Amino acid sequence: MISKAVIPAAGLGIRFLPATKAQPKEMLPVIDTPVIQYVVQECVDSGIEDILIISGKGKRSIEDHFDRNLELETKIQEKEDEVLYTQLRHIEDMANIHFIRQKELNGLGDAVFHARCHCGNEPFVVLLGDTIIDSVIPVTQQLIDTYEQYKQTIIAVEIVPRDKVTRYGITGGKQISDKLMQVDELIEKPEINKAPSNLAIAGRYILTPEIFDALEKTPRGKGNEIQLTDAMKLLLKHDNIMALTIEGKRYDIGNKMDFLKTTVEFALKRKEFAKPFKAFLRDIIDKPEKEQK
Ligand code: G1P
Repeated sequence: MISKAVIPAAGLGIRFLPATKAQPKEMLPVIDTPVIQYVVQECVDSGIEDILIISGKGKRSIEDHFDRNLELETKIQEKEDEVLYTQLRHIEDMANIHFIRQKELNGLGDAVFHARCHCGNEPFVVLLGDTIIDSVIPVTQQLIDTYEQYKQTIIAVEIVPRDKVTRYGITGGKQISDKLMQVDELIEKPEINKAPSNLAIAGRYILTPEIFDALEKTPRGKGNEIQLTDAMKLLLKHDNIMALTIEGKRYDIGNKMDFLKTTVEFALKRKEFAKPFKAFLRDIIDKPEKEQK
């Protein structure tokens, strides 16, 4: 059974500067909820309540967000706003969240290595703290269901356009069903002509404890960082790894264009905003044409 999740959230957020100069990218709000809360909710919706967040310098607001704020609670109680009060209490109670700090930014592999003591001898899920995946069945649940069947490392992947493979970890191997690939190749951010496929690692993984020994032996790779993809590649020498093509839409919030799209799409799905926001969008999109007349 999988009962633990690890959320790496120590990165600098360079792609989202200047907004991330003094605040974590994981705390950027999509409408009114920080990205990392969506990620924690995905764990909870998949039955996981023991969560380790790998944080770092400048990330204290993540801890504060999942902590109680008695002053705020009292004020909201005075206003008798039950809905807001329940929402606030939900954030503090949603999971058992632990924190560990990555003191030096040595890459995603190094971040995950910090979870060794916490995870011990159990398999665990890794969810990137800046990535929301919108799906009917939470992607973590999709991975857990596959793990229960095969009991091996499972990587969530999605098809990306060929010219985008350079931005991702790419998997190669033998397709054993529509959605499952037996992996025999893994490359972090390959050149287009060296990519074994266009199946990109989508920021969700189920890892077994063997990953920690592999990480210990993993030399620095792309960007002079210890890459999780390289550690999994070492594992491939004696372990099986599967890639599951996920059902869902991935939003990488660290990327400004994706952030804009997420905000618009999520606003259109919210009952209180859907109608007026759609009308507003129609209006601004039609405007230049009207003005030409
Ligand atoms: C990381 C992983 C990469 C994966 C990507 C998904 O890269 O190293 O394998 O495809 O996340 O977003 P990053 O985006 O942190 O450079």
